[in-house]
Amino acid sequence: MGLLDGKAAVVTGAGRGIGKGHALQFAKNGASVVVNDIDKDVADEVVAEIKELGGNAISNTDSVGEKAGADAMVAACVEAFGKIDIMMANAGIARDRTFLKMSEEEFDSVMNIHVKGTFLCHQAAALQMKEQGTGGVLLSTVSAAHFGNFGQTNYSGAKGAIASMTYTMAMELARYGIRVNAISPSGTTRMSDTYVGPDGKKHPMPFIDPELNGPVIAYLCSDEGNYISGQIFGTGGERIALLEQPKYGHTLFMPGGWTVEEVQKNFKQNLGNKLEALGITKPPYPFADGINPPEK
Ligand SMILES: NC(=O)c1ccc[n+]([C@@H]2O[C@H](COP(=O)([O-])OP(=O)(O)OC[C@H]3O[C@@H](n4cnc5c(N)ncnc54)[C@H](O)[C@@H]3O)[C@@H](O)[C@H]2O)c1
Repeated sequence: MGLLDGKAAVVTGAGRGIGKGHALQFAKNGASVVVNDIDKDVADEVVAEIKELGGNAISNTDSVGEKAGADAMVAACVEAFGKIDIMMANAGIARDRTFLKMSEEEFDSVMNIHVKGTFLCHQAAALQMKEQGTGGVLLSTVSAAHFGNFGQTNYSGAKGAIASMTYTMAMELARYGIRVNAISPSGTTRMSDTYVGPDGKKHPMPFIDPELNGPVIAYLCSDEGNYISGQIFGTGGERIALLEQPKYGHTLFMPGGWTVEEVQKNFKQNLGNKLEALGITKPPYPFADGINPPEK
């Protein structure tokens, strides 16, 4: 008996990397899988691998960035397996560039695949789940880059948008029995190989098997996980981390509302000393000494 026996899943961008790991884990736990990827060769290879393991899979090459593509991959799942229970929106691209040099195309393409792709795939799946009356699970893919990451204005913004979409969709879709969660995965992949630090250089990182994100995802998508929605988990390697959700922190109140003079009097000593550090590793707050124009 597998944890996902009888379930049907679509995994986008499942031809390689982290999505491939998800597809394999879903299949190993008993789900039938639509292996979606715009790269047909790798999608077919994953299907062959799943079949060799005794699993059930088909490939699909529609793009997540178009409504017709999202609709078609859900339709393919229904046609092959009779229904859809799980949509794992994983497909992604990176077009890293520092903010001032980033082109409109680099911004739009990342937003289109990540944000619009997640929206379209989840909407197509959720409409089908509603019609089935079965409920289901929508899973999205964010990244710790959404805390802020050098050279990734487009990507970090896209991942932040997906995190916020997760909270809203979870609120709206619970009435149909649909759970909505996201993961912030890790794994050594084609994409992770492109990362460079603020110094513009690649830094060697230990190999992390991308399939290690899969077990917790299988749990989230199983009936045992039916109490989990609106949550984001850091996954991969040896960890499962619950992401703390954004909320207002330290707050100052002024009866009757603030004047500029009162802000000047109160801000620095009561909020200015509590400013938060930025980025994935949360180093100390970097701007305490002020940010000034470069010297001429
Ligand atoms: N690798 C990491 O450590 C890491 C960390 C955080 C988040 N992520 C996220 O995990 C997801 C997978 O990343 P990865 O590292 O496996 O990348 P990858 O480049 O190895 O794989 C991504 C796959 O998506 C496919 N794809 C791209 N555009 C598509 C489209 N329009 N429609 C369908 N498929 C498309 C590609 O062909 C590719 O096979 C992405 O959303 C990424 O942002 C990865």
